[in-house]
Amino acid sequence: MALADFDLVLFGGSGDLSMRKLLPAMYARDRAKDLPSGARIVCVGRHAWSQQEFLGAVEENARPHIAEKIFDQNLWQAFCARIVYVTLDAGDPATYHALVDVLRTDAAVTRVFYLATPPSLFSTICHNLAGAGLASANSRVVLEKPLGRDLASAKQINAEVGQVFKESQIFRIDHYLGKEAVQNLLALRFGNVLFEPLWRREWISDVQITIAEQLGVGNRMGYYETSGALRDMLQNHLLQLLCIVAMEPPTSATPDAVRDEKLKVLRSLKRFTPTTLAQDVIRGQYRAGHMEGLPVPGYRNEPDADPHSRTESFVALKAEIDTWRWAGVPFYLRTGKRMPDTLAEIVVRFKSVPHSIFAQASGATQPNSLIIRLQPDEGLQLNLMAKTPGDGMRLRPVDLELDFRETFKMPRMEAYERLLLDVLRGQLTLFMRSDELEAAWEWVEPILEYWDLEETEPLPYASGTWGPPAASALIGRDGLQWREESLPEL
Ligand code: BG6
Repeated sequence: MALADFDLVLFGGSGDLSMRKLLPAMYARDRAKDLPSGARIVCVGRHAWSQQEFLGAVEENARPHIAEKIFDQNLWQAFCARIVYVTLDAGDPATYHALVDVLRTDAAVTRVFYLATPPSLFSTICHNLAGAGLASANSRVVLEKPLGRDLASAKQINAEVGQVFKESQIFRIDHYLGKEAVQNLLALRFGNVLFEPLWRREWISDVQITIAEQLGVGNRMGYYETSGALRDMLQNHLLQLLCIVAMEPPTSATPDAVRDEKLKVLRSLKRFTPTTLAQDVIRGQYRAGHMEGLPVPGYRNEPDADPHSRTESFVALKAEIDTWRWAGVPFYLRTGKRMPDTLAEIVVRFKSVPHSIFAQASGATQPNSLIIRLQPDEGLQLNLMAKTPGDGMRLRPVDLELDFRETFKMPRMEAYERLLLDVLRGQLTLFMRSDELEAAWEWVEPILEYWDLEETEPLPYASGTWGPPAASALIGRDGLQWREESLPEL
């Protein structure tokens, strides 16, 4: 579907997200000829920069985030000509006239306000937009995470933004939903008959979802100290992945059909009790260590760190879903910074064969597993047992591999490219609805409260390791291992 002309207004236009992700994503879509001739990107910031000065900042900070192979000087110049810089103090209604002067009033021009700002500004900006008469019927608003820091603040944001924009105009972004592999998981589950009959407690023993990063907190300490791994990654990205794995088949791909099913999963998550909070949730914080042979500092020694910080940079937990399909199947979720690898993957492990006809000596049959890799390379891996060639019946595990990059030799789209296009098209399927967001907070909030009351600290783990040993013990108690622990040493 061709896009209508638009004014995309980026609040936090000179900020990190805008420079690292949003502007490069829009350049990539411009290069792919997705943007109409009347597409404009209005970057809003507090600095009293001239247009030239701002474009200098874009050159310095956004341009390096565009891959060389897609960079073209002429296209870049044409893209930069779409950018308009507006000086505005988001908290001061008197300054919004600067935006009024720039935005087109033609109803055929889509208007998108992308709030890449701290969530404390969301309500203020929406009210100020309304006050300046800018929140028109053809407007949409995009809210970046974190969407609040607990249930109460999320509800307040939803209520206040809801006073200005209708739910159908609100796009709550979780960039994990824009990843190619997540979409492929939907295709795998609902575009094939093969897995659905097996996709249940009778055949699945457990599910692991891991998002691991080698990077530390770096220069984001200010933000990260208000957040931690639970709020930064688990409440949103990991729970959204869990929803896609666990949801019932929706009746269609329309936004509400999909979001209704995800909501049911969130509402069916087994609530924590004091016992399960103590046993099934592990938090950790990285100490100094080595990453790819080089020494790196611990969390408390990062720039601007509080030397006594109790913020977690790692969290692992066991979740259960109280439904007929999933009762009793553990979902192990894990995320951390300064891990040995940067990867995101979902591992669905099936049960063992009910009866083995092969003699012990032929090699134990291992349960099948399906690995959905989100990054670094998108792909699927189905682990099966096969007979080793030659005399005798000797079995060993083999992999059926599907590398999406190899299979579809087509340019890939980054998550933000896809999601920005969806916003501009008004397509809400990959965005969270207010009730989903609140249900996710409702489930994680007891963990936050428990940690606040608890005297203990996050468990230490050396940088370059897979988190504190307690994370292995969490899954080990159930007789299982995290995937990397079960792989043979190379
Ligand atoms: C962001 C978090 O939402 O996701 C970051 O705030 C994290 O802390 C990032 O690094 C990871 O995203 P990706 O797409 O690089 O896995």
